[in-house]
Amino acid sequence: MTVLAFDVYATLINTYGMVDLLQRYIGKDRAMPFATLWRDKQLEYSFRRSMMDDYEPFYTCTSDALNYCIEAFGVQLTRDQQFSLIKRYQNLPAYRDVIPCLSSLAQRSDIAIYALTNGPLEDIERLFADDAIDSYFRDIVSCDEIRTYKPDPAVYRHFLKRSGAEAGDCWLISGNSFDCIGAAHAGFNTVWIKRYDAQLYDPWGKRPNATLSSLTELESLF
Ligand code: LAC
Repeated sequence: MTVLAFDVYATLINTYGMVDLLQRYIGKDRAMPFATLWRDKQLEYSFRRSMMDDYEPFYTCTSDALNYCIEAFGVQLTRDQQFSLIKRYQNLPAYRDVIPCLSSLAQRSDIAIYALTNGPLEDIERLFADDAIDSYFRDIVSCDEIRTYKPDPAVYRHFLKRSGAEAGDCWLISGNSFDCIGAAHAGFNTVWIKRYDAQLYDPWGKRPNATLSSLTELESLF
């Protein structure tokens, strides 16, 4: 059995899905840089919380990162605007290639589909239900279950325990190079989804087994 572990944010779910709101609140020029820094800081806070052994759920990293960006960009956002941004983050849209990819993989009896994510189970279940992709997953494995974040090797080991799979049979599919490097370090095969030309794979650590520009070509790998 081939086990596919899909990362969620920036792989299945578009972390730029709130840019239209940001454009309205802070202007067209600042919206994309703000969204990029928000995501970078959110991840940095998750890494630091893992290292400090000071776990808080992923939405805390998200809202702390938003507060950082508001200060860094020197913008005034009303409480309602901040609330709307956080609310949008909880309902980010899936990329367009997700349903075609998952629905064709789900036909295959030799493939098991999982999610492996920093997000707490209830957040991811709601997100998947809103995007109508919940039925494709055999299970959702969340870092929240062990209170640490990717790329802590404990996360990938936890996935093996939960799925009962061997690392050599597992493929992490991720748009985040840090996640691919972390999973490869734990013995997984990896596919890096390079959705934007400007995205770089970190110049160290294990290279992905494959790099794809979208999920459309994924099934042909297996
Ligand atoms: C996740 C982050 C890494 O969904 O994007 O786990």
